[in-house]
Amino acid sequence: MRIEGKEYRTIWFENNVVKIIDQTKLPHQFVIKELKTINDTINAIKVMEVRGAPLIGGTAAYGLALAVQENNDPEFIKKSAKELIKSRPTAINLKWAVDRMIKKLTGINSDQLLSIALNEAKEICDEDEKFCENIGINGLKIIEEIYNKKKDTVNILTHCNAGWLATINWGTATSPIYHAHKKGIPVHVWVDETRPRNQGANLTSFELNEEEISNTIIADNTGGILMQRGKVDICIVGTDRTLSNGDVCNKIGTYLKALAANDNNVPFYVALPSSTIDWDIKDAKDIPIEERNSEELSHIEGIDENNQIKKVLIYPNKSKAMNLAFDVTPAKYVTGLITEKGITEASFDGLKKLFK
Ligand code: MRU
Repeated sequence: MRIEGKEYRTIWFENNVVKIIDQTKLPHQFVIKELKTINDTINAIKVMEVRGAPLIGGTAAYGLALAVQENNDPEFIKKSAKELIKSRPTAINLKWAVDRMIKKLTGINSDQLLSIALNEAKEICDEDEKFCENIGINGLKIIEEIYNKKKDTVNILTHCNAGWLATINWGTATSPIYHAHKKGIPVHVWVDETRPRNQGANLTSFELNEEEISNTIIADNTGGILMQRGKVDICIVGTDRTLSNGDVCNKIGTYLKALAANDNNVPFYVALPSSTIDWDIKDAKDIPIEERNSEELSHIEGIDENNQIKKVLIYPNKSKAMNLAFDVTPAKYVTGLITEKGITEASFDGLKKLFK
């Protein structure tokens, strides 16, 4: 998608380095950062220069290729894979991508390792782009149906950033929106700010602006009243891990939006590529929920009068804060899952029919 009119993907390999858009600087500064080593990659995932489940997976894949480039000793590659998997615990795409890379590299002669690793990382990214495009084509039908009934702007609420910046391109939750906009369907997006890191305000609103899609940032607690007053036609969110029973783990606050949507008969859809499905964990209580540094709550970043990014304390400095990054929405509150293979109910049978 576009930034200042120029097409980008979120990650690419050029001149022996991996290039990423540093998302900690957006929307105020557009910085392309180079990752040269496995440690650069692990750090980029941890500090969220790259984020969003599919992009974390793509970055981890390229990270392993960088590890091979540094030292193609099998023990070093194994250790790098383990450290990558630990770098963020909730998004299943990370482990999925690392496992796929290791499987591909096992038994390969050392002189071929690097080219095979680079090809597979690119393949993972290309595939994600295609899957996200298909999610858009499938999800477009739901938006079109609402528009055909309403004959007026379709109001969509989304949480966090499940946009192209969270994937390789297109996004998951935003892909149906981009497809609807390209087709000339009038859409408006309610963008949850998404405290504490404000991925909605900083990233989703930014990318929708760049594509000239009408959007309004709202505080995270605003969705409920908007739904009660008929101002939301549909919610579409992304996910970091969806269990095979249809339970959806996503950015903290998603669950409360799903409850409000359920109470107000607003359809609540989750968009995801198959790489986000966890076929192993059976009980949502076993999903590792990332707890991040409480500084992300107690401090806030913005730009000062000299256009410099500045961080300030907003809490009493003696107060404790807890920063859980994800929650789980039970399948019963999910109207449907929009995947690359089609739309299904959030259930084991629904997912199995599409994927197994
Ligand atoms: O902590 P983040 O910013 O990595 O969380 C991202 C989300 O919660 C997204 O909704 C999810 O990864 C889906 S991305 C298409």
